Amino acid sequence: MRSHYCGQVNESLIGASITVAGWVHRRRDHGGVIFVDLRDRDGLLQIVFDPDAREVFADAERVRGEYVLAVAGTVRARPPGTANPHLASGQVELLARSLVVLNRSEPLPFQLDEDVREDVRLHYRYLDLRRDVMQRRMLLRHQVTRSIRGFLDAQRFVDIETPMLTKATPEGARDYLVPSRTHAGKFFALPQSPQIFKQLLMISGFDRYYQIARCFRDEDLRADRQPDFTQVDVETSFLSQDEIMALMEGLLRTLFHEVLGVRLPEPFPRMSYAEAMRRYGSDKPDLRIALELVDVADLVRDCEFKVFAGPAQSPDGRVAALRVPGGGELTRGQIDDYAAHAARHGAKGLAYVKVNDPARGRAGLQSPILKFLSDAAVAGILERTGAAGGDLIFFGADHRKVVGDSLGALRLQLGADRGLVADGWRPLWVVDFPMFERDEAAGRWVAMHHPFTSPTDDDPAVLAADPGGAIAKAYDCVLNGSEIGGGSVRIHRQDLQSVVFRLLGIEAEEAAAKFGFLLEALQYGAPPHGGIAFGLDRLVMLMAGADSIREVIAFPKTQTASCPLTEAPTAVSEQQLRELHIRLRAGA
Ligand code: AMO
Ligand code: AMP
Repeated sequence: MRSHYCGQVNESLIGASITVAGWVHRRRDHGGVIFVDLRDRDGLLQIVFDPDAREVFADAERVRGEYVLAVAGTVRARPPGTANPHLASGQVELLARSLVVLNRSEPLPFQLDEDVREDVRLHYRYLDLRRDVMQRRMLLRHQVTRSIRGFLDAQRFVDIETPMLTKATPEGARDYLVPSRTHAGKFFALPQSPQIFKQLLMISGFDRYYQIARCFRDEDLRADRQPDFTQVDVETSFLSQDEIMALMEGLLRTLFHEVLGVRLPEPFPRMSYAEAMRRYGSDKPDLRIALELVDVADLVRDCEFKVFAGPAQSPDGRVAALRVPGGGELTRGQIDDYAAHAARHGAKGLAYVKVNDPARGRAGLQSPILKFLSDAAVAGILERTGAAGGDLIFFGADHRKVVGDSLGALRLQLGADRGLVADGWRPLWVVDFPMFERDEAAGRWVAMHHPFTSPTDDDPAVLAADPGGAIAKAYDCVLNGSEIGGGSVRIHRQDLQSVVFRLLGIEAEEAAAKFGFLLEALQYGAPPHGGIAFGLDRLVMLMAGADSIREVIAFPKTQTASCPLTEAPTAVSEQQLRELHIRLRAGA
C-alpha cells in the first residue's frame, strides 16, 4: 500500500514517485491549494493538492482530520522560504497525483495537541497514543527492553516464563485472586513477582535467568505504582552480592549509553540504609538535592522545650535539623505551607529558626522556640548545620520514623520549590538493610525485603538471638530518588529458611502450607543464588522524563485501579459466578 513512511521522506527523494499512507494531521486551504500534513509513526509529510489536478483536488476537499489516506505523487523541494526546520521532511513536499480514502474518522473528542484531563485521555487511550509524545514514549520503552535483552543475552541469561495463575508470593502487598472453576472454593493468586519460581529455576541449574515479567499487586496506588506492572526480573547462581551488583550496574550503564547516550558513573556509589536514613530520611535518597538532615538531639536533650527534649531522650526518638539555604526569605505563609506538608507525612509541628546574622549569636536569629534553647545549643546547631546569614533551619522532633518521613519529604519539596535539583543522573546502591522491621501494632517482625533474603551472618542461632540487629544481603538500586530495583542474595539452606519463617511468625505448619514446595526444593542441592528485579515502568518513566508511570504504559489503570477504556473491573453474570462457586455478599 505504501512505498515510504512520511517521516522518512527527504531531499534524497526529490523527483521520485512515491506512495505514503497515514492519518490527516492537519488540512489547510490556501486560496486554491490544499495542504495536508499526513502523519504516520515516523512523522509528518506535507502533501500539496494542486487545483489543476481536478479530480484528486476534489477528493482532497472532502478529507477531514484523522481520515486515513494513501497518497501517491512526486517528491519536490519546497519553494524557497517555506521549509520547516522542525520536520525531518521539512525541506520537501509531496505533489499529489492520486488519493485513496482508506477510512473516514468522526471528529476526535479532543485535539491531539490539546491538554486534556487524564480520565479522558485514558478513555480514548488509543487516540491519546497517536500523539507524538506518546509514540516516542512507547518507542523508548521498546528500545529499553531491546537493550536490556541484548545485554542479558550477551551475558548468557536465559529468558524463561513463569506462571501467572499461581500461588501467593510474599512481596508485602495484597494478592489478586482468581477463582478456580474446577476446584470449588479454591483460588489462584496472580504473582506479586516471579520470586519463588526464579529461585526454583536456580535449583534446576539454569544459572542465569531473566524475564520481563508482569507482576500484580493490590496496593494503594501512587504516581509510581500500578496494580499490574512490569519487572526486569533476574536471578543468578554462584555469584556474590558484589558480583551481582557489578553485573547489574553493567546492565544499567549499557542501557543508558545505548538508549540515551548517557554515561552513568562507574561504579555506582553505595550507601548503607542507616546512613541514607540519617542523612536523607529516606531509603531512596535523591542525591541531586544537596540538602541534608543533621542530628541535634545531643544539643537539646536538656532544653526546656519538651517537644525537643522528649524525643532527644527517647531511644526511638530523633531530633534533626534541615538547613534551607536562603530560606530566610520564606514568608510566614510559606512556612505554614511547609508545616502542612510535613504534617501530611506525620509531623506534629515544624519548628524553625531564621538565621539573619549568625555572627551575632542569639541576637542574629529569629524564632518562636529561641527562648527555649541554651546558648550552647544555639551555637551547636548553627555550627553543625553550617548555617549562614539569610538561611532558615527547620526542625523535626518525634519518633525517628516520623522525623525521617517528614523532613525527608520536606527536603524533596524544598528542592523542587527552590530550584535545588541538579541536572543529571545520580544512581545509588542502598545496602546493609536490616533483615527485619518491627511491626509495633502487630507485635511481630516483618521482612524488610522478602522472607527469602539471606542475612550477612548465615548462622541460624546468631539470627534467632538478635533478629533486630541482623543485616540482610539486600540491595536497592535508586536513581534520582526513585527506587528502580531491589534484590538480595537468597537463603539457599532449608534450616536457615525455616528459622526466618519462624521469626516472621510463620509457624511450621503454615510455612509448609504456603511455601512447602520451596522448603522441599531447598533440600535437593540448591546452589547459592541471588538476584534483583528492576521496575521497568519506573525506569522508562525516568528515562522519558515523565512524572508518572502511567505515561509510559500503553493501557494503564487509574489511581483507583480501574480502566476507563474497558471499564474493567466489571460485574459478571450470575451464570459465571455460579460456575465459579461464588455467591456475592449482600451490598457487593
Ligand atoms: P520489589 O518488591 O522491591 O522486589 O520490586 C522490584 C521493583 O519493582 C518495582 N515495583 C513497582 N513498580 C510499579 N508498580 C508497583 N506496584 C511496583 N512494585 C514494585 C520497583 C521495585 O524496586 N522479587 C523481588 C525482587 C528480588 O528480590 O529479586 C521484588 O519483587 O521499582
Ligand atoms: P508549640 O509550643 O506547640 O506552639 O510549638 C512551638 C513550635 O514547635 C512550633 O513552630 C511548632 O510547629 C513546633 N513543633 C511542635 N511539635 C514539633 C515537632 N514534633 N517537631 C518539630 N517541631 C515541632
